[in-house]
Amino acid sequence: MKNIKLSVIMFGCMFILSCSIKSGKINDISNSSLADVFSEGFDLGVAVNRNQMLGIEKPQQQIVSQHFNALTPENDMKWSTLQPSEGSFDFTGADALINYAAENNKKIIGHVLVWHQQVPEWLFVDEQGKQVTREVLLSRMKSHIFEVAGRYKNQIYGWDVVNEALNDDGSLRESKWLEIIGEDFIDYAFLYASQAAPNAKLYYNDYNLFKQEKITGALTIAERLKRKGIRIDGIGAQAHYGLNPPVAELEKTIQRVISQQLDFMITELDITVLKFPEPEKMGADVSLNVEYAEEYNPYAESMSNEALQALAQSYIDLFELFWKYRDHISRVTLWGVSDGDSWRNYWPMQGRVDYPLLFDRAYQAKPFVQDLINIPQSQ
Ligand code: XIL
Repeated sequence: MKNIKLSVIMFGCMFILSCSIKSGKINDISNSSLADVFSEGFDLGVAVNRNQMLGIEKPQQQIVSQHFNALTPENDMKWSTLQPSEGSFDFTGADALINYAAENNKKIIGHVLVWHQQVPEWLFVDEQGKQVTREVLLSRMKSHIFEVAGRYKNQIYGWDVVNEALNDDGSLRESKWLEIIGEDFIDYAFLYASQAAPNAKLYYNDYNLFKQEKITGALTIAERLKRKGIRIDGIGAQAHYGLNPPVAELEKTIQRVISQQLDFMITELDITVLKFPEPEKMGADVSLNVEYAEEYNPYAESMSNEALQALAQSYIDLFELFWKYRDHISRVTLWGVSDGDSWRNYWPMQGRVDYPLLFDRAYQAKPFVQDLINIPQSQ
């Protein structure tokens, strides 16, 4: 019995050793930084929450400080958080991020100035509840942008100025912004942002931009802005993906964006290992809320080995692509620190256990992170 145990242990050790030899290095990133590994190519960013910035979630804060060099607030710079009622601003969470980033020498990405989601109820109506005019909404937009982007004009590196203004076919999404102001709401958002924060980079951000019709829509917006002399610096692709992400289509998108002299970024990367309940709605529409069903939650205790392998391959394929275009991609941002922090546990269905990020629930880097680290040396 003892002998059997011993040989099992020995076999295990040999297996681990041979795996690490195969990948060229022992999987130990405890003394290195992921951001340093990719620094010749692009910044490595992460979305953070208030508790992490305040040091209440200590292990996550440790990962942020060691491994990432650009921070995006997951929720703390959205309109409903910053200006819950007209003219009264709450900068508690935003300031916590700004202070942490300054002390720890991290870039800050502002997210987001103009979006149809996570906006307060008062924004589109007057005191009687009647829809406001174009002039009123433009002036609300202007004062919000000046207050927020102006306040942090020396600290914020780049802003997601407009988020998700497009449908997947490249047409403009129906929203209160579009309905009340008209399609130049986008132009005004970029104009005001360029005036309020003249040194910040200005981005258009959206999901499913690997779809060619949708990126056509984004590039059409960028062309129009440039024609009018309004500054736009780049396009951010969210990248809330599933297993087997659309690498080939994304490559086409990258080529098209950079051929327009625009910067390209991956702004919100995560990869669900769970089945998407309504595949035709695959994307990142935050209003989607599908009723819980057990069959969509297969890894409540732990992820299967097959799922882990598929997740690993998905991340490797993407990072190989990012590294290939490293001269044109300025940042790759993960949408959350560790699996336990991810919004994919509650979107598009609440109550599931997902594994979409680089660090697991025990705050350990997943095995394939070593393969990502090896990419810059091997290409
Ligand atoms: C998500 C946050 O991660 C959640 O915590 C929140 O409940 C909803 O919004 N596209 C975006 C992000 O631009 O702001 C969204 O973040 C995810 C989709």
